Amino acid sequence: MDKFIITGGKKLEGRVRVSGAKNASLALMPATLLASGVSKLNFTPALNDVYTMIKLLNQLGVETNFNDDFLLTLDTKNITSQTAPYEHVKKMRASVYVLGPLLAKYGFAKVSLPGGCAWGPRPINLHIEGLKKLGAEIELEQGYIIAKSDRLHGAKINFDKPSVGATGNILMAACLAKGTTVINNAAMEPEITNLVQLLINMGAKINGINTSILEIEGVDTLQPAEVNTIPDRIEAGTLLVAAAITKGKITIEGGIDSHLYSVLSKLEDTNAKIFISENEITIDATDIDIQSVDVTTGVFPGYPTDMQAQWIAYMSAAKGVSTVTDTVYLDRFSHVSELTRLGAEITVQDNSAIIKGVPKLKGAKVMSTDLRASASLVLAGLAAEGTTEVLRVYHLDRGYEKLENKLKQLGAEIERVSTSEF
Ligand code: EPZ
Repeated sequence: MDKFIITGGKKLEGRVRVSGAKNASLALMPATLLASGVSKLNFTPALNDVYTMIKLLNQLGVETNFNDDFLLTLDTKNITSQTAPYEHVKKMRASVYVLGPLLAKYGFAKVSLPGGCAWGPRPINLHIEGLKKLGAEIELEQGYIIAKSDRLHGAKINFDKPSVGATGNILMAACLAKGTTVINNAAMEPEITNLVQLLINMGAKINGINTSILEIEGVDTLQPAEVNTIPDRIEAGTLLVAAAITKGKITIEGGIDSHLYSVLSKLEDTNAKIFISENEITIDATDIDIQSVDVTTGVFPGYPTDMQAQWIAYMSAAKGVSTVTDTVYLDRFSHVSELTRLGAEITVQDNSAIIKGVPKLKGAKVMSTDLRASASLVLAGLAAEGTTEVLRVYHLDRGYEKLENKLKQLGAEIERVSTSEF
């Protein structure tokens, strides 16, 4: 078990390259199951959720090679199983992404229901209803989804609410269905656009990229292909907030501003300055008075829920009172009680947190409870007076590739140490 020891108060300065997007990779990897052969995913981030997906795909018979310049190759010529077992899916909800591709390619898929999460509920009704519309027979048996279909057929599918996972699953399945599928109210996150790019490279016929209406004309077979994974907009946003909360100045190499307009705009509202150049984002927060700014999360291009915890940490160091409301997940606030241990003044009412900024956060021992909660504790520790210990950083390692090295490169005093503390 590892923990971070952070000595706060250091301004972050310098340049850092952002890694590939976790939430793109977790869709791109299962998509390769739709073809037989060797596909190549460039800029795949070396983080734990990717390794968990690799293990799941290996169990299905996929041969993988992940070398040290972030090229992940997947050979799907010899699929030996269409079952995603509970022990895998319970670790990572995104495992449910294998459902659509296995069903579409092999006519059968047995995937464990995801089970609980640090917050929730996180149902998959939209995935299941969509696959049924495509003609799948679906049964729920002993905690497993069992899906069968000789050949899926096109359908008109309307999502009551945009869902990244359901859009991905239905999109992948529809590529091999007979006929045309229209997905209305599709998620427009950049990770879905990245998935569409790979599927088109594989021979899929998809219109409506970057819009909320996707039209897919099913084909009989798809070919293995290659794609560049997009940069991780949440890692980029987290690093930008790290610079802002420490009143420093950094440049993110590889950041795509159009993936982060909502976050960049909010950062500017707090008095930070943002400069955009070819594939680089610079933030200058040198000696600013951090202005408190309200945020309400929403689906893309709204402010991302995956940046909600980080914003609450930032607002804890701002002048004034701010409100952060999460409309995507109504109870994603497990970081709040840990932030108050650092001296933050936050109250939660329903799906909103009200933050009264304090002049100085004070270092303490805190415990990570989920991926983005752990990121928020690291951010607060960077600004806090004295030493902060963040326990259970295995949560953080699920979604960030060696975050402590990136922060150290920017001048942070942060060390990863192993500990028997749990
Ligand atoms: C993806 O999860 C991301 N994960 C999440 O990132 C992210 O928070 C989320 O999208 C929202 O942006 C991956 O891409 C691997 P959803 P997903 O389906 O697909 C409800 C992180 O920190 N819903 O878009 O599971 C759901 O309860 C992770 O990197 C249904 O009601 O999210 C939620 O309220 C955390 N029924 C809303 O839709 C369904 O069948 C959005 O969920 C599916 C979802």
